[in-house]
Amino acid sequence: MTELSPLPSILLVGCGKMGGAMLEGWLRAGLAPSIIIDRHKTDLPAPHQVVRSIQDVPANFAPDVIIVAVKPQKANPVLAELAQRFGQATLLSVMAGRTIASLHATCVQANAQANPVIIRSMPNTPCALGAGMSGLYAPPNATAAQKAHCNALLKAVGETVWVEEEGLIDSVAAISGSGPAYVFLLAELLEKAGVEQGLPADIARKLARGTLYGAGCMLHTLPTDADELRRNVTSPGGTTAEALKVMMAPQAWPATTSTAIAAAVHRARELAS
Ligand SMILES: NC(=O)c1ccc[n+]([C@@H]2O[C@H](COP(=O)([O-])OP(=O)(O)OC[C@H]3O[C@@H](n4cnc5c(N)ncnc54)[C@H](OP(=O)(O)O)[C@@H]3O)[C@@H](O)[C@H]2O)c1
Repeated sequence: MTELSPLPSILLVGCGKMGGAMLEGWLRAGLAPSIIIDRHKTDLPAPHQVVRSIQDVPANFAPDVIIVAVKPQKANPVLAELAQRFGQATLLSVMAGRTIASLHATCVQANAQANPVIIRSMPNTPCALGAGMSGLYAPPNATAAQKAHCNALLKAVGETVWVEEEGLIDSVAAISGSGPAYVFLLAELLEKAGVEQGLPADIARKLARGTLYGAGCMLHTLPTDADELRRNVTSPGGTTAEALKVMMAPQAWPATTSTAIAAAVHRARELAS
């Protein structure tokens, strides 16, 4: 995949937690003149513009990529309007669950001539800090240039991987799309357990956050497998071993994690149409 610089021009529809996180990163990385549709934002640095609705997008604006970052349940009216105005566009969907077939059908229902190329992706909120992890899937009709544009956008805010089957985007959503929430939950639980063991709340918070940061840096920087890093912290008969005996009991984290991820994938499939 070739890198493009500056980043392609975009029309971003949906500037909430996910759209906003990507936008922060893109503004830092350098976007070609772009338009953001947002009902709250008041300004954007030049040469970008914020408008309130698709009807307010200037007639001569032809973005390289339209990013749809609204909730899956709110996508249909947005897609219908986009199909009327930008029927042949490259659409990058970051929406959980919604399949390319269902997104395309919604566009065609609104405009029989519409034939957008739809690439699916699943980013995550660390994109705001340039530390995102995104999975992408492109259907066979996507061109190399369309894939390169989408890759460049998500690579500018973190790492990207491409999957070969559309259904795997649901698995990506369950692991890395939702994944920051699992890590934040662990931070909450460690902090709470620290307080239960007598630590002042501010110290428990600092210890929990600092530990997740340090362990994350090791995972990011070292090629070592996670299980080896874990064993390096675990002296036989020591304190870590006692805690891990509880966490690693078959019905504890191993079973809970598999069941939780399967539940997330199941939910993504419920949102498919
Ligand atoms: N949050 C995550 O960590 C994450 C990770 C990966 C993927 N995603 C995907 O990202 C999408 C958005 O999720 P989110 O968490 O960012 O939700 P969110 O915070 O609710 O953001 C959605 C945004 O879309 C806007 N919107 C809705 N209809 C619109 C319209 N017709 N025109 C312009 N803007 C419109 C909403 O504006 P109003 O406030 O004015 O309604 C809101 O700002 C979802 O499809 C989700 O599956 C999210």
